[in-house]
Amino acid sequence: MKILITGSTGLLGKALIETADRNYEIVATYLGNYDIDDNYQIKYKKLDTRDKAGYEYLFRDFKPKVVIHTASIGSPDYAEKNKEITWDVNVRGTQNILYICERFDAKFIYISSNGIYDGNKAPYGEEDEAKPINYYGQTKLEGERIVQKAKTPYAIIRPILMYGWPHSFERGNIVTFALSKLEKCEVVNAYDDVYLNPLFNRSCAEAIWKVVKEEKYDVFNIGGAERVTIYNLIQEAACAFKLNQDLIKPVQQGFFNELVKRPSDTSYKTEKMEKGLGIKPLSLKEGLCIMKEIRQ
Ligand SMILES: NC(=O)c1ccc[n+]([C@@H]2O[C@H](COP(=O)([O-])OP(=O)(O)OC[C@H]3O[C@@H](n4cnc5c(N)ncnc54)[C@H](OP(=O)(O)O)[C@@H]3O)[C@@H](O)[C@H]2O)c1
Repeated sequence: MKILITGSTGLLGKALIETADRNYEIVATYLGNYDIDDNYQIKYKKLDTRDKAGYEYLFRDFKPKVVIHTASIGSPDYAEKNKEITWDVNVRGTQNILYICERFDAKFIYISSNGIYDGNKAPYGEEDEAKPINYYGQTKLEGERIVQKAKTPYAIIRPILMYGWPHSFERGNIVTFALSKLEKCEVVNAYDDVYLNPLFNRSCAEAIWKVVKEEKYDVFNIGGAERVTIYNLIQEAACAFKLNQDLIKPVQQGFFNELVKRPSDTSYKTEKMEKGLGIKPLSLKEGLCIMKEIRQ
């Protein structure tokens, strides 16, 4: 099967590529100014999602059957400061690619976010009301609204906070930032008032591949097994990597002078992911243990 993955060098895109079925033929797009090596299965292509004509050409040439659209601006603070570009990438970029999918009969998998919830009524199931409290969340929800009107089969996947190993040239995540500080014996301050059920990036990729293989085109909230604070998450990571937990200090939202408030509790119900996709949410111990095993 021919598959197009946008945002292929991001945390989720990397996990999708690492876990893809060997029979899939993949074109993988990204944005940055770097080269990344192709192999027999994956062809990388630098192509901005705002470049509609570029994607039209790619579709005519490659003819993907499924598109997994992970490309996005993902930082709530960046989004708040750069509203125009965030709308262009997260909303118009999604619209562009969906529109081409409809014309070329490709199925569309849109990656949304826990950022669509306000955090006041956790745990969240797929049918719960979406009420974003920041601009990033608004753009992800607007993307969902566009996708829900699609004239082609679609799925909406909502990962919650992900951890895992990113490419060395990509942004880190809460766990990798903390590990690199703890390894240098530096103090790590972590929110003890933001709750989620953190998700290992490969676990999210596994759920997406299930959607593709079993044609489960539906809406899924994808999370890990435990509801914890970010402080608890970093403690678990320090324990798994045998680093000094005394260096981790609990702080409250506002400590980092962040521009944008994060929803305080967006933890998920995972029943639909378990029953509908047959994916067991990983515990933090399991996810972090795999992370340790695959460290390069
Ligand atoms: N990470 C999380 O904790 C989390 C939580 C909830 C939802 N999500 C959602 O999950 C998806 C994947 O997140 P992620 O963490 O894997 O993202 P990420 O690590 O920030 O990577 C984003 C990817 O999108 C690409 N990209 C950005 N702007 C683009 C554009 N204009 N055209 C083409 N490609 C572009 C980036 O390319 P370059 O790097 O080359 O610029 C990169 O490959 C996103 O939709 C995000 O909203 C993530």
